Amino acid sequence: MKTSGCFITFEGVDGAGKSTQIALLAEALRARGRDVLCTREPGGTELGEKLREVLLGMEMHIDTEAMLMFAARREHLAAVIEPALAAGTWVVCDRFTDATYAYQVGGRGLEAARCDTLEAWVHPHLKPDLTLLFDLSPVLAAARVEANGTEPDRFERERREFFERVRAAYLERARREPERFHVIDAAQEPRAIAREIASVLGERAWL
Ligand code: TYD
Repeated sequence: MKTSGCFITFEGVDGAGKSTQIALLAEALRARGRDVLCTREPGGTELGEKLREVLLGMEMHIDTEAMLMFAARREHLAAVIEPALAAGTWVVCDRFTDATYAYQVGGRGLEAARCDTLEAWVHPHLKPDLTLLFDLSPVLAAARVEANGTEPDRFERERREFFERVRAAYLERARREPERFHVIDAAQEPRAIAREIASVLGERAWL
């Protein structure tokens, strides 16, 4: 039996509606008496949040972008994620390494082998126990980001084709690891999505 906490990640294109569902899931898990930590990438530590500002705000070489994503991740794992899991806390993370494969490799065309190398360096053994992939057409996702009314960041300003590639990369990863991934049709109503997530966790006897 697993004594450490579970590591659950949320993935998907910008505007897919992850944040609402992260809050709902954390609430449901806490209601079951679980210790839950919600965090995000890039970010999750003081240094990571500084790197996030740089990553979301400044143009840079694609290698720099990938390395900074993994630098923030290294810090996040060492300072937050690994100690929490070891203490039995459930960690719910808004994006993780799948996002680097989707955005930097799929979206920007970084060579996958470079991402493999960074992953093997930064977390050779850890994988999320469950990854909920919010799948949404980039047209709908862009409309949601716009309706949000906030100033779009460097990623959100990308063209639709970029998000088509990000989406395809995510779906391909989900196809290769069907046990870890659950793909959610993010065009559904929030209440329906929450029910679907509850049933996925229920099947694993986690909720
Ligand atoms: P997110 O927190 O989902 O953005 P928001 O707060 O605007 O909803 O993610 C920030 C952005 O960083 C998002 O556009 C995806 C990008 N990103 C990558 O490109 N690679 C990565 O490895 C990660 C973790 C995020």
